[in-house]
Amino acid sequence: MDADAAPSTPGKWKMEKPHHHYRHRLILLHRLQNLPKLAFWTFFAFALFLAVFLLWPSPRSHFSSGSVRRSLGVSAAPWGGPAWEKRVRSSASARRVSSGKSVLVTGAAGFVGMHVAAALKRRGDGVLGLDNFNAYYDPALKRARRALLDRAGVFVVEGDINDAALLRKLFDVVPFTHVVHLAAQAGVRHALADPGSYIHSNVAGLVAVLEAAKAADPQPAVVWASSSSVYGLNSKVPFSEADRTDRPASLYAATKKAGEEIAHVYNHIYGLSITGLRFFTVYGPWGRPDMAYFFFTRDILRGKPVSIFEGPDHATVARDFTYIDDIVRGCVAAVDHAGKSTGSGGKKHGSAPFRIYNLGNTSPVSVSDLVSILEQLLKVKAVKKLVKMPRNGDVQFTHANITLAQKELRYRPTTGLQSGLKKFVRWYLDYYSSSLSKHGSKGRTTN
Ligand SMILES: NC(=O)c1ccc[n+]([C@@H]2O[C@H](COP(=O)([O-])OP(=O)(O)OC[C@H]3O[C@@H](n4cnc5c(N)ncnc54)[C@H](O)[C@@H]3O)[C@@H](O)[C@H]2O)c1
Ligand SMILES: *[C@@H]1O[C@H](CO)[C@@H](O)[C@H](O)[C@H]1NC(C)=O
Repeated sequence: MDADAAPSTPGKWKMEKPHHHYRHRLILLHRLQNLPKLAFWTFFAFALFLAVFLLWPSPRSHFSSGSVRRSLGVSAAPWGGPAWEKRVRSSASARRVSSGKSVLVTGAAGFVGMHVAAALKRRGDGVLGLDNFNAYYDPALKRARRALLDRAGVFVVEGDINDAALLRKLFDVVPFTHVVHLAAQAGVRHALADPGSYIHSNVAGLVAVLEAAKAADPQPAVVWASSSSVYGLNSKVPFSEADRTDRPASLYAATKKAGEEIAHVYNHIYGLSITGLRFFTVYGPWGRPDMAYFFFTRDILRGKPVSIFEGPDHATVARDFTYIDDIVRGCVAAVDHAGKSTGSGGKKHGSAPFRIYNLGNTSPVSVSDLVSILEQLLKVKAVKKLVKMPRNGDVQFTHANITLAQKELRYRPTTGLQSGLKKFVRWYLDYYSSSLSKHGSKGRTTN
């Protein structure tokens, strides 16, 4: 909710081909009609040449996407060149050549992406990050995460997943064995302000990533983040993978559900190994400022009232909060159990795994209990305001059935909300007090 104050992703669907090229062609065709035959064919050949020249997608598209991003206020970092390629290659090289994987992590400057990239690097895998550093929430936090990855030996390329030329280049330079695709427009309420950003990143962006993966040789296995929000209006608990997911309550949920269907297509047609992970409310150090546990902490410390949502008839709103380290272990296990893609050169050679797992914690906690824990950890009493939950996308209750992930990924969450929030609060106080002293008062504005 607070996050809506910030401008959003370069949301609009990108027009790869500027209008004036089309207008150009139309004018040419119009003039043609009054000319004799020979001149017609000369003109036709010229027009064809012009059209091919102007509309040829590569390598111009890389420049055009840069200028589109610049015009939308996202700084465009140039990419390419021998030094850049060397950096990409070295970041993506596994330490242990025999068993090490080479993983492209999209959304690496994000909350989950940073933790997953760091964990994979720590155990010896080669890791390359990709993120567009959009301003949905404070980009300074994303840059701080990138600095941390930099120190761990992970290079995060600045670019959009919709930049097909960039993705092609990355797969040309590195034969990635896995893609962990976490880049997305997250958050439920922001869709009211900027629906296009959800389509841009979660639908078009996912297709761009799957297109690149399918065309790569060797094809990587893909692990990507869906969401518990696909369970939508379901009231049967706990939520199991086989339950219906055709009643989303938000555009965010609808784009994640669409993503699951799109993933199935790429698995079916191209033999891509694809694992979808339905995360349940992930929290922890380096978390997302648009999530309740995060801005409750900020508001409690500032003495600002916190809104506690209630369902109809004062029903409690609860979430299956899942600690980041548990999610990371689930992601890494999904990489290790992914199974191979079978295609090559865009052709399928056999069936490949298509899987979906819940990654939750199996113990929902009410929002008022969340606030009580924060009060106790911060040693500050919250000013509480009970508010009827608006019908703008949030569901009342989430609770994961993790039997499947337990069985197949040996996924076992071990951190309860109390001890997880303790680690979050410690990080929060440290991060904002040190960024306050480093950057003056700027560090305080998290949105
Ligand atoms: N955190 C949760 O509770 C939660 C719950 C369910 C699902 N998920 C999913 O998990 C994934 C990671 O979430 P998170 O909490 O780390 O969010 P996040 O916003 O911190 O991370 C996403 C990152 O992707 C980047 N990004 C967005 N659009 C992009 C684009 N078009 N090109 C390149 N980069 C782009 C953003 O800059 C951001 O750094 C997302 O797919 C999210 O939908 C998260
Ligand atoms: C949990 O999911 C498994 C399938 O993975 C299913 O067999 C089981 O019935 C579900 N349990 C509940 C309580 O819904």
